[in-house]
Amino acid sequence: MSTIENPSENSPHILVLGMGGTIAGLASNPAAKPLQYEAGQVEVASLLAHVRSVIPEGISLVSKQVANINSRNLTESLLTLLGEAVREALANSFVQGVVVTHGTDTIEETGVFLQMTCGKYAQNLGKRVILTGAMLPSNAPKADGPSNLLDAIRWASTPIDNCPGGIYAVMDGRGCLAMDLAKRHGSALNAPIQTSPSSSVGLINPSWLSGVKAVQELWTEDLPIPKENEWPWVEILTSHAGARSETITHWLNSKVKGLVLAGTGMGGFHDAWRDSLVAAVKHGIALVRTTRTGAGETLADLPEKDIGGCLASGSLSAPRARIALQLSLNAEKQAQAAGKSLTWQDFFARIVVLPVIR
Ligand code: SIN
Repeated sequence: MSTIENPSENSPHILVLGMGGTIAGLASNPAAKPLQYEAGQVEVASLLAHVRSVIPEGISLVSKQVANINSRNLTESLLTLLGEAVREALANSFVQGVVVTHGTDTIEETGVFLQMTCGKYAQNLGKRVILTGAMLPSNAPKADGPSNLLDAIRWASTPIDNCPGGIYAVMDGRGCLAMDLAKRHGSALNAPIQTSPSSSVGLINPSWLSGVKAVQELWTEDLPIPKENEWPWVEILTSHAGARSETITHWLNSKVKGLVLAGTGMGGFHDAWRDSLVAAVKHGIALVRTTRTGAGETLADLPEKDIGGCLASGSLSAPRARIALQLSLNAEKQAQAAGKSLTWQDFFARIVVLPVIR
């Protein structure tokens, strides 16, 4: 992780952490083919140089490059690095707020990860962490990155009684909890959408704000950030017509610690899986059930009674449920090492109970 030497570091500032993505992407022929580009090419310091002249007076910026990747290649080690950088920044009394520039492909995972590991800490300190990205590379004629970055910097630095400290995301002039942003279209320019209502960046919507507060009231304690080499291995498996039991039995002799089942409809899975899933639980593999539909809640014992030990994901999509299960398994390991008899289900249930902002 490189830090740009900046005298502002020892005075109040907004810290901008660069992770890469399209916002830092470059197209070789931007005028004719803006969508043919490589993500994660431009340093975050250069992205800031482009918006510095329009930054409201009195805001100092410092940047750190955590990674510069296409976010489809996001790794768990990078999440650890980012989580630690965010917690370190929040603890720094010179840092007034944090912005993270990120690829939109997996911003969904990073959003839920930061909420679960840093959300309470940010709220208690009254600081905002804002994720943002872009759909067009930085040199495209109509690049959306600069305006998203500017909005994120403004949101990170606006007066605190307007909107509490916490983990948010800003895209296309709208802000939401970072755990509510996801990419839900393969190619549309407005693909990253708020999966719950959002607020206009310039004008915080009171009913949205009360939803944020309801989530924050129930999120009472952050989960530990797994060390780089301590992330439990969790896979996502999709149920579909013609599903085979081998899709499950394949994992029984592996080091997989958890399976997220992206089921059909209400999160049901093919009967061909049932016996091997029971065997998986006996092998000590954690099971979470979610829906592959992309929307709606997956509830316990619906459409039929759950296999013992398997939890329903509530409103968590499969990628979010996977991160939540990894953090819960890690929290269980740490709790048990400290002599507490808490299980991954105890931690996962704390996440599932978070209300959906409506
Ligand atoms: C990426 O996720 O890094 C590429 C796509 C994007 O940022 O929109």
